[in-house]
Amino acid sequence: MASTAKIALCLTGRTIEEDLELIKQYKDYIDMVELRVDYLDDDEKLFIRKFPSLAKIPTILTIRRHCDGGKFCDGEANRTTLFARGLAYADQDSRKNFTYVDIETDFDVPCLQDAALAFGTKIIRSFHSIESPIDEIEKKFRSIRKTGFEIPKIAFKPKNLQDVSNLMKESARIKDYEHIAIALGPLGLPSRILATKINSCITYVSAKNSPEDFAFLGQIDPITLTQTYNFRQINEDTSVFGIMGYPLKFTNSPKFHNENFKKRKMNCVYIPIRCENAEETVQFADANNIKGLSVTLPFKKDILKSGVLNFISETTGEVQAANTILKTCEGWKGFNTDVNGFIKSFLEFSGYRNLFFKKIAIIGAGGAANACAYAVKKLRGNACIFNRTLSKAREIANLYGFRYAPLNADYLYALEKYNDIIIQTTSVGFGCEQDSESNKKNDPIFFYEFKGFEKVFDLIYLPEKTPMLARAEKAGCSICNGSNMLEYQGIDQFELFTGEKY
Ligand code: ATR
Repeated sequence: MASTAKIALCLTGRTIEEDLELIKQYKDYIDMVELRVDYLDDDEKLFIRKFPSLAKIPTILTIRRHCDGGKFCDGEANRTTLFARGLAYADQDSRKNFTYVDIETDFDVPCLQDAALAFGTKIIRSFHSIESPIDEIEKKFRSIRKTGFEIPKIAFKPKNLQDVSNLMKESARIKDYEHIAIALGPLGLPSRILATKINSCITYVSAKNSPEDFAFLGQIDPITLTQTYNFRQINEDTSVFGIMGYPLKFTNSPKFHNENFKKRKMNCVYIPIRCENAEETVQFADANNIKGLSVTLPFKKDILKSGVLNFISETTGEVQAANTILKTCEGWKGFNTDVNGFIKSFLEFSGYRNLFFKKIAIIGAGGAANACAYAVKKLRGNACIFNRTLSKAREIANLYGFRYAPLNADYLYALEKYNDIIIQTTSVGFGCEQDSESNKKNDPIFFYEFKGFEKVFDLIYLPEKTPMLARAEKAGCSICNGSNMLEYQGIDQFELFTGEKY
């Protein structure tokens, strides 16, 4: 069986001391570090030779040029001198030397390369394309690898998931020599988490608060990689599930599913897949043997329209939105576990058994709103749908015989008529700082003054209390966020994915 990919922490401190501090912080979660000399202050660069002895962990020596996505701009002669400084005076004790040196395909200084090899420093021969993808990856790997002692590395910026898929497929095919394959940026995250599955021997991570110019690489921090994604347990037999969405900046679903896989010792992993269209994501899932996906903003409705589903469950058909898709032997099938998740969580919160005589405002008219409207109808409530885009509110209202109205202060009177219960389903407020003051941008009903009797349910779970919920609570309303709903819909999803009772 192929061995688990090693985790390399990129060190982007301005001083050696800062880098050593990062190692201390993350040492339990990493196998090696990459000293990014291009991030060091000039006077610190004088002392790189002693770094491996201080770091006491296998270290990659890297001096990345600007054209390859790094910060080094002082020319090749100076870079060569720096490499020489890092590799000179090799110690008999190999732990005091750099374990690897990363040099690009066009860096050709034979005496340095020979010296590195003579003293046991392995060469990572890298090729970066930071603006565009490359194809024929397997061929490229073979051409990069100049000698059998070198580890070829390809890192490129994918334009779409198809590019990521190509890299992953071709990398997985290479079994006869060590290599490193990385798709950069948020699109490329699957190539980092699934490094072992695609036979890539090193995956790179960075500290949580890395410099901003580093963020474009799409690296995650080592604690998230090992704890949330159980990276060290992933092997070639691991079944892969995921969540598709855009921009998918915040999601708690990987934590929920991966914790459950771990608890039950199931060889499965659940990963985020940032995507720009539903069809492309399903193709990606097919190509990479991904067996099931959660579907989130903005694809819950699109996934039905995209024509990629061969079947849908009855509730999915009623709601016209899916939040789960599953690969069956007859093709992809769509499910909606939001409806049950919402009903269970809402009834628990409100203490109601049904919604007879209740007037309910549903804020938003996307897939999640549709699931809530369906649930409200099932519970016999009477709702008005409020949305920025009126046509979408009308569409849902017509499905269930509800009223609809634009979401703005001119229709405050309508909101005041449907305020026994307010169900907030838009993304407004998602991911904002806890305790932010309510304003137009983070509170979809900023123009509404809570009376204190309303029951207010916000599907958002991050932050725990959105500015709207905080306002409602202050006015005396009972409030509930979306975390229980997320858990309940996740339980149904878990059963669909694994075929096991939760
Ligand atoms: P989902 O399927 O997860 O519900 P969606 O279909 O993209 O996601 O729906 C998102 C909802 O949030 C929509 O009601 C959207 O309003 P529009 O239909 O007018 O796009 C709403 N929404 C998103 N951003 C908003 C904003 N800044 N102000 C008001 N509503 C917003």
